[in-house]
Amino acid sequence: MNIISVKDYQEMSKKASEIVVKTVKELEKPVLGLATGSTPEGLYQCLIENNKDKQVSFQNVTTFNLDEYVGLAANDPNSYRYFMDEKLFNHIDISKENTFVPNGVAAKLEEECASYEELIRSHGSIDLQILGIGLNGHIGFNEPGTPFTSRTHIVELDESTRSANARFFASMDEVPTQAITTGIETIMESKKIVLLVSGENKADAIARLVNGEVSEDFPASILQKHQDVTIIADEAALSKLN
Ligand code: F6R
Repeated sequence: MNIISVKDYQEMSKKASEIVVKTVKELEKPVLGLATGSTPEGLYQCLIENNKDKQVSFQNVTTFNLDEYVGLAANDPNSYRYFMDEKLFNHIDISKENTFVPNGVAAKLEEECASYEELIRSHGSIDLQILGIGLNGHIGFNEPGTPFTSRTHIVELDESTRSANARFFASMDEVPTQAITTGIETIMESKKIVLLVSGENKADAIARLVNGEVSEDFPASILQKHQDVTIIADEAALSKLN
């Protein structure tokens, strides 16, 4: 694993945007894997600026998001589709029909998982996957205990994940209990992975990811086995790494 140490959130976001821009420029039809949450927001802001400055175009880019809450429609402000439209897609020159997020209100959720997986496969594979990490080591919404062989599936969200995400909802009761997420194996098939980590509250997680044993109890630990992972982390996040 390649670890890039940066000063703060701003620098993490800028570094990540440079890698995304380079990938998009190099490839004819780039396929990006994207995450939601607080961590990549700064990256998306940088990409919007790079697009406005004409440094990069997203016209040939296809994106697949990692996950979506079950029960939240695209027009729900807490859905991940809404987040992506608001934070990135509405502000860049990407074709919306080339942006994919699992459908959390599909009538048949199992079928939605299978067809999402198939859709990724029909685009070859993900060239560059952006990841954040949960306090319990989740990547996507693959909670501890998820088999490393998992593909896109429905998950019961951990209480710790629900409370970490409750800040976006009016009350804890409104936080969905289930989500659709791409699986660990789906993520591991990405050609390149960039994991972003910022803040002291992620310091234990990043230390365990880098130095801990590879175990399904800590999903992100599997990244030790990927041949092209770059972690971009700020000083606070790296404070417990020796
Ligand atoms: C979101 C996702 C999650 C987040 C993780 C960290 O699409 O896949 O794994 O990356 O929960 O969230 P933040 O960035 O809000 O700390």
